[in-house]
This record gives sequence, structure tokens and C-alpha cells, in this order.
Amino acid sequence: MEFSIKTGNPEKQRGACVVVGVFEPRKLTASAGLLDNATNHYLSEIVRRGDMGGKAGTTLLLHDVPSTQCGRVLMVGLGKEKEFSEKEYCAAIRSAVKALSETGATDGTLFLTEIPVRKCSLAWRVRQAAIIAKETTYRFEQFKSKKSDARRPLRKLSFAIDRRTEMALAEEALAQGLAIAEGVALARDLGNLPGNVCTPTYLAEAAQRIASDYAFDCQVLERGDMEALGMHSLLSVAKGSHQPPKLIVLQYKGGKEGEKPLVLVGKGITFDSGGISLKPGPEMDEMKFDMCGAASVLGTLKAVAQMQLPINLTVIVPTSENMPGGAASKPGDIVTSMSGQTIEILNTDAEGRLVLCDALTYAERFEPETVIDVATLTGACVIALGHVATGLFANDDSLAHELLRAGDEAHDRAWHMPLWDDYQDLLKSNFADMANIGGRAGGSISAACFLSRFTKKFEWAHLDIAGTAWKSGAEKGATGRPVPLLAHYLLKRAGKLN
Ligand code: BES
Ligand code: MN
Ligand code: ZN
Repeated sequence: MEFSIKTGNPEKQRGACVVVGVFEPRKLTASAGLLDNATNHYLSEIVRRGDMGGKAGTTLLLHDVPSTQCGRVLMVGLGKEKEFSEKEYCAAIRSAVKALSETGATDGTLFLTEIPVRKCSLAWRVRQAAIIAKETTYRFEQFKSKKSDARRPLRKLSFAIDRRTEMALAEEALAQGLAIAEGVALARDLGNLPGNVCTPTYLAEAAQRIASDYAFDCQVLERGDMEALGMHSLLSVAKGSHQPPKLIVLQYKGGKEGEKPLVLVGKGITFDSGGISLKPGPEMDEMKFDMCGAASVLGTLKAVAQMQLPINLTVIVPTSENMPGGAASKPGDIVTSMSGQTIEILNTDAEGRLVLCDALTYAERFEPETVIDVATLTGACVIALGHVATGLFANDDSLAHELLRAGDEAHDRAWHMPLWDDYQDLLKSNFADMANIGGRAGGSISAACFLSRFTKKFEWAHLDIAGTAWKSGAEKGATGRPVPLLAHYLLKRAGKLN
């Protein structure tokens, strides 16, 4: 799909469809009003008759409205004007794009980007519209023999702004939105791929492809390299699998030479069967999504490279399958991590922290400014926060607040969870420095506490995306979260946010 920014009045637009908004009850937006004046009050007559009352989520398609230059007008209900904020704006864009793509129109101009949204800039509205448009039209059909009906797919989408002087600003925001949307789509694609395709080797190749597309460095550490580094915790997870584990390291250098990098670490378990502590059967297929942390940091990196942000960003992905087998780790096994700390593996299903701890220790060599890990780490996080908020833990309060803020602004929200020392006792082991589980109570917190023992040397945050990385049920599929949160945070750090 092609995107562009437009100025000009709605009644003068040529093309297949013009999209305007209506507030509840029966109030035309400014651009809908212009169209109404130019069409002998065609729109207000429809509103008066009660066919479009402005209720959020409703749309009405009109054909060949007299005195217009376009084939169709799509009216979109926005809900009450005084309740119109970020969430309602995003929902309106979503229903507009959905309705538009169900018509025969191959192009459309959205006059919704002109509508003021409380506390939100024009750049935000345009960026968000681009992200939502791409998200709404996303399909994952590479394994379907028959592709879904796309008689006349939407090919061109324009966003209207009312001031010509804001053109450059809007265009930059559009480019940012599209880059973020591509990052989200990459994360969704990788997440949706089945475990027999998306193996650690596949992830490493995908990473190498991104690196060569954008001309930066990618290094893949093999089992032997990891043995030499003493990453016995990570390696223990791979013991039951026929697939070799990998440690993927990508270095994007858009910032000044010598400037400390930001490091993102993503959990890349390409299938989590639980290992010897085998998971129950129902919904086990969803454990192909256990590499969504990895997918999201790769997606974020792609977005950053696409936007050419002036920052140094290093991405580390520890990746493995977690399978049962004769050689697999057993409950009670003790391993020595790269940090030298020993771990008693009381449950082989708590494998995410075992691969992450060695990746976090490895991060030290980059002398990072900040490290953020992203992981589908605990079922307990889903119990705590459901599928709305990502769990956020940090050893630094200002970092936590920056990330929370980025999540709010990007509409990809996180919630701050405690990481108090009081919880550390849960990880006591009679035989090693620590156990890899802390019991059912506060399960997402003890998992974060475990990681915190490997992040003492830098400012660190942990995002538990177990509840937000994918959807179950009829709409089963990866969401691409938290790419929008991370991209927003990095845009801000790069000073490129308007
Ligand atoms: N990948 C899972 C976490 C998970 C479970 C995410 C369900 C989303 C939905 C992780 O590796 C895991 O199995 N964690 C265990 C930890 C427990 C054994 C301490 C869990 O949450 O049950
Ligand atoms: Mn597990
Ligand atoms: Zn897992």
C-alpha cells in the first residue's frame, strides 16, 4: 500500500473515496462540514434522517454524492466529542480502514487525521494512523492454499492535514509510522510462523537478512562459542532439542562513535514444550509464540534502521527450543551460568530466564547505556495483568517511568510491577546459588528477581509480554507488541519525536 499526506478541501478530492467523521449525536466534524456545504447539505440531511448518528464503531458508505469529485464518501462515527481522545481516535481510524478495505475502492483520503485529539500532536495523529492502517490490513496467509478474497485491495491511502505549513512535519511522522508498522509486521510474521519453520537457525538467518538489508553488523554465536564463554545456563535449555541453539548479536551504529549503546535482549524460545517438566496439551501450540520477545526486538531494530535514528542500538537474541528428550535437563540439575552463579533447575519449564541470564551477562561487554529485555516470561504475568498491559520491572525508576510514558503515548501500555528485595528470598535453593523458580505466588516478580541478579552492572528494565505478545481464540495471532512502545521510547531518546 502507498501512503501520502494531502492538503485541500474534501469536496475537491478526486479518487475513489473520501472519509469524514461524525460526532455523536449528529455533529459533523470541520471537514465533514465543508463537504456538507459544498453538496447542498447532503451529509447533514443523512444525519438528520438518523442514518448516521455518530456512534463510535459505525460507518456509512455513500455513492456518487452530488457536487463531489470522488466516487464515494465514507462517514465514520466518532462517539461523543468531549470523550474523543487517543483510544477513540485509534478506534475510528481502525473502523475507517476496515470499512474502506471492504468496499471496491482502491484508494482513499482520510480526513480523520485533521480532527483535534486532546493532548495529541499532528505528528502523533499521522504516525498512529499509519501504524493502525497497516495493522488493520495485515494478513498472514503464506501457508493457505487459497488467499483471502482481495478483489480490489486498497492500494493508496492519503491522510489529510489542514495546514500546508505542516506538510514536512506530517511527512516525517508518516515515514516514522510506516517504519514502526513494518517493524510490527516483521514481529507478527516471525511470531506467527510455526515452530517447525521458525527454528533458532531460521531466526539467525532472519536477523542476518535484516543486517544485510540495512548494512550493519550481525554475528551469530554457535554452541561451541557459547561453551567457550561458559553459557551453561543457556545451553542447558537446548539439550533436549535436535535444533542447535544460537546467540544472535546485531549492532546498529547510527549514533556517535564511542557513544554507549542501548541494548535490547529478546527471549527466543522457538517452541516451549516445557521440557521434562512437560506442559499440558491444551493450547500447547501457542508456545510457538515463545519467541515473540526476540521477534519484537528484531522488529524494533528494523524500524530504527528504517528511520535511520541517530542512536547506537545493540540487539541480543538467545534462541533455542525447549524440548524433552534423553539428553534434556532434569529437575534438580545444577548449571553454572556465564556470570559464575550456579542455578538449580527445579522446573525445566522456567527456561526463559535460563537463556536470558546468560544473554544479559553477555550484554556487559558492550558497556551499555541501558539494557531492556523483552520476554514471554511467565503465565503469572497473564494472571496479574491479563492481555492489556505488559509487565514492567526495572532496577531504575526513571527508566521505568520513561518506558511507562512511551507505552502510554504509543498506546502500547505497560504497568510498573515491584522488584523489591523482599521477593528475592523466593529463589532460595538448598544446593545452588539460586533456584530457577520461586513458587506460584508472585510468579512474574520472582522471575524478574531472577533476572535482576544478572543485571547489577547496568541500568535495566524487563518487559514481561506473556499476556500481550499474541491473541488466543478466533483471532489467534501475534500482535507485534511491544514494538510500538520500544520504537516510541527510542524515537524520544533520539530526539525525533514531534
Ligand atoms: N513461556 C512460558 C510462559 C508463558 C506461559 C507465556 C503461558 C504465556 C502463556 C514460560 O517459559 C513458562 O513456562 N513459565 C512458567 C514458569 C513456572 C514454571 C515457574 C509458567 O509461567 O508457568
Ligand atoms: Mn516454559
Ligand atoms: Zn517459555
